[in-house]
Amino acid sequence: MTISTADIRRKFFDYFTSRGHQLVPSSSLVPADDPTLLFTNAGMNQFKDVLLGAEKRSYNRAVSAQRCVRAGGKHNDLENVGYTARHHTFFEMLGNFSFGDYFKKEAIEFAWHFLTKELGLPEQKLLVTIYAEDDEAFDIWSQHIGVPEEKIIRIDTSDNFWSMGDTGPCGPCSEIFYDHGEHIWGGPPGTPEEDGDRFIEIWNLVFMQYNRQADGELQPLPKPSIDTGMGLERISAILQDVHSNYEIDLFQALIKAAAEITGAKDIQDKSLRVVADHIRSCSFLIADGVLPSNEGRGYVLRRIIRRAVRHGYKLGTEDIFFYKLVGALIEQMGEAYPELKAQRSTIERVLKLEEEQFSRTLERGMQILQDALESLEDKTIPGELVFKLYDTYGFPADLTNDVAREKGFAIDEAGFEAAMSEQRKRAQQASNFGKDYNSQLSSEVTSDFTGYEQSRGEASVQELFSTDAKVESLKTGEQGIVVLDTTPFYAEAGGQVGDTGYLSLSSGGGFRITDTIKLGNAIAHKGVAESDIHVGDKASVEIDVERRQAIKLNHSATHLLHAALKQVLGEHVNQKGSLVEPQRLRFDFSHFEAVSQQQIAQIEALVNEQIRLNHPLTTQLMDLEEAKNAGAQALFGEKYDDQVRVVSMGPFSMELCGGTHVKQTGEIGLFRISSEGGIASGVRRIEAITGAEALRFSQQQTQLLHELAAEVKSDWQKLPERIAQLLEQSKTTEKALQQLKQKLASQAGSDLLSQAYEINQIKVLSAKLEGVEAKSLRDLMDNLKNKMGTGILVLAVAGEDKVSLIAGVTKDLTSKVKAGELVNFVAQQVGGKGGGRPDMAQAGGNQPEKLDQALASVSTWLEDRL
Ligand code: ALA
Repeated sequence: MTISTADIRRKFFDYFTSRGHQLVPSSSLVPADDPTLLFTNAGMNQFKDVLLGAEKRSYNRAVSAQRCVRAGGKHNDLENVGYTARHHTFFEMLGNFSFGDYFKKEAIEFAWHFLTKELGLPEQKLLVTIYAEDDEAFDIWSQHIGVPEEKIIRIDTSDNFWSMGDTGPCGPCSEIFYDHGEHIWGGPPGTPEEDGDRFIEIWNLVFMQYNRQADGELQPLPKPSIDTGMGLERISAILQDVHSNYEIDLFQALIKAAAEITGAKDIQDKSLRVVADHIRSCSFLIADGVLPSNEGRGYVLRRIIRRAVRHGYKLGTEDIFFYKLVGALIEQMGEAYPELKAQRSTIERVLKLEEEQFSRTLERGMQILQDALESLEDKTIPGELVFKLYDTYGFPADLTNDVAREKGFAIDEAGFEAAMSEQRKRAQQASNFGKDYNSQLSSEVTSDFTGYEQSRGEASVQELFSTDAKVESLKTGEQGIVVLDTTPFYAEAGGQVGDTGYLSLSSGGGFRITDTIKLGNAIAHKGVAESDIHVGDKASVEIDVERRQAIKLNHSATHLLHAALKQVLGEHVNQKGSLVEPQRLRFDFSHFEAVSQQQIAQIEALVNEQIRLNHPLTTQLMDLEEAKNAGAQALFGEKYDDQVRVVSMGPFSMELCGGTHVKQTGEIGLFRISSEGGIASGVRRIEAITGAEALRFSQQQTQLLHELAAEVKSDWQKLPERIAQLLEQSKTTEKALQQLKQKLASQAGSDLLSQAYEINQIKVLSAKLEGVEAKSLRDLMDNLKNKMGTGILVLAVAGEDKVSLIAGVTKDLTSKVKAGELVNFVAQQVGGKGGGRPDMAQAGGNQPEKLDQALASVSTWLEDRL
């Protein structure tokens, strides 16, 4: 019985905890407060500040099993997964750490002792590398541990000088290698054959000594420390006496589950490895709060999911399958990582949704790609096609590359990047579209904004623009832009629309302001001159106060909504877009499924509660850092000045915002959500209304209820029962109607039979029917055949430009006459064609005017045959 992965993890913990190490849980895959890192990629990440001396802990020795993702970002193994024995998007790193406590000697002793004594690896199978200049490490290995000198290899490259990233803790390292044996190709580290699979690095001991600065300078750390990392999957492979990580117990279980779920035939299929690898990274990323999206971490997740789905499809699955592996994963890893169990339903839902969305375009995209691969002359897929697959079919470029690689093709990455940047340009242009001023216009003026407190003021005209040039004056009736030295008009920003209002010239006349925008540092009033206006003119300006008030309500309500969404739906909710208008507010946010009616009610209740609490709204200028530390909501990826304005409403909401707001939340009066829906994968949109508009909305709904109730003669409270009752009635009526129709048809049948005539003693009926639906022809035919006993029939129904025909021959006569031929004979005469069984056949035509004659010809046709 070989030792399981779970047992190895446990042994590692036991060994180090019994030697004074604190067991520290794995940190999240999303590094806390470290913008230099996309995903956690080493055990030491969570101890970075401790190593740098910036943070103190109650312990100075630690041990952990850290979940790591190396996909996207600097360390990216995604494209190798499935092709090699040892690459993973997700892996676990076992590590022991010393923060200024023990150093090289003990670290080496611990590692050697654990491997050879605890795990029982034969010493002769191990060899080590050291940093070329590290004589101290050489002496420890050779004299203290007794490793033969030829098995201590000096390496002078970055392979033996480990850095977390471009900056941060780093130091020389010593790696322990395992020799998988002569039967596998490869050479020791430092030889030309080192890339072979024979000698495999299992444990890296980093002697942390420096903090690398942005300019490359190595500053000594306050205290030399130890950081080590051993890949759990690799050491398991050795102890379980297998060569590939994918053959260890944990992966075999996942591969087996994947084979069952996808129906894969060959358990060695490398797509199974891909799927087994990817379910780990995807599940853990989702458990750590990452959701599929089109940017940053979310896009890496999306790429991994889609790659897994594509491989599932290759394995032959026809159903949505990927999420079904979460259970098998939890069986393997749920004990060590309880967060997986806790988040199970979220993980499954997110995976299922993403796969459903992608599977709609997967097949079509694959077809296009396959066609291209067959027709391409050279072995490179053009960037344009890679882009089309990305843009239209949701194929991330590395997925296209994955497919291409299987067929020995490469992709034109530069061409793809070029197409992407073209698209970004187009998107930018599109977002400016509709602004009827020339984007070349620029202003040299800086305008003062007084509109937080004031709605009117005195100003002088600094600059004027026609729709496409700077001018000295605008004539009566001309459209243009007025720039003032000071103004209460809010220029469109942060989703809040620009103010409208009026500028009255001191000399009489004025300018109607229809919108306000920013032009450089100036506030630009767009509109129409109602009298001539010149640079230097004095004026008084006043915003449309009622409109502005409505905007304020909606803006403050937007902040309350944002906070409420986080409370009700979860912290993953992030603002994706916002529009604040006088009539309504619109808010886009990340969330992976529809918001239920019940949640909507909860959100409305929460916001309205905050309105009734009548919080005073406060604004404060702060340093950006200070504001973030205070917990203010800032938009991800948004650029802020160092000084920011923080808008708060009680303890409920705090956001960075330059917009205009109510004085007290009570002014909002009432908040109602008028619609909710999806606008892109993982992005929802809520529209809502406030104040008088919200009241109007509620009243309209009530009125509608009353009208509906009156219409169906009921009270609004009893509408549900009344509607159920009406539906029931309509069902009963429908049924009765059907019965009646059948009865009529069968009566019509009897009448019809009286029109039958005989040819050579055989009964024949050819008739055009009135008031019968084409779809009941078959039933009618069966009916008549039964009644007739033996005979031949042709029935027809004519519409305005359409004929439906059916012919029937009782079984005893089919040797003489075939219904198919008969119906075809008639159909041809009315512009159609038909056929079918010898005893029953149907046809159509489009010349009803020829039907009578065609039916009359039946007797002649039959006479020749009977
Ligand atoms: N931090 C070291 C590594 O990742 C141990 O290899």
